[in-house]
Amino acid sequence: MLSREVIEKLNQQINKEMFSAHLYLSMSSWCYAQGFDGAGAFLFAHADEESAHAKKLITYLNETDSKVELEAIEKPSGEFASLIDVFEKTYAHELTITQSINELVDFTLSCKDYPTFNFLQWYVSEQHEEEALFRGIVDKLKMVSDSGNGLYLADQYIKGLIK
Ligand code: FEO
Repeated sequence: MLSREVIEKLNQQINKEMFSAHLYLSMSSWCYAQGFDGAGAFLFAHADEESAHAKKLITYLNETDSKVELEAIEKPSGEFASLIDVFEKTYAHELTITQSINELVDFTLSCKDYPTFNFLQWYVSEQHEEEALFRGIVDKLKMVSDSGNGLYLADQYIKGLIK
């Protein structure tokens, strides 16, 4: 049986994961509109991963007979200055998600909720991977110039990261 506070915080995390999916779909469409089809496809696919993160939390709440309360999802930004701007923002966004997961982990430990603490370890590992993934893309984009050639190659590289 989960505490009211843990249920509330897990529900808030569901909303954050759903917002991530929303944000990445918005970014994906911006990329397609600019001709960055590789980045568009990558972000479109990554939005599915974010939905899966939310569903994993929903399943955990269902398995523990806890109430799932879905909230409205905030409108994501749809305007970006450049391809690197998009990925700097994905990376910054992932850092806020890591912070949120870390706070959840801290909280569950402080209230001795070991099953939820254990469940959240999957998210700790996932955030480690996601930070590395997005930071890697930003690093590559910094290496290329704003030339058509450089951006085309970067877009192809990003496309190759689709799992
Ligand atoms: Fe669900 Fe990208 O973290």
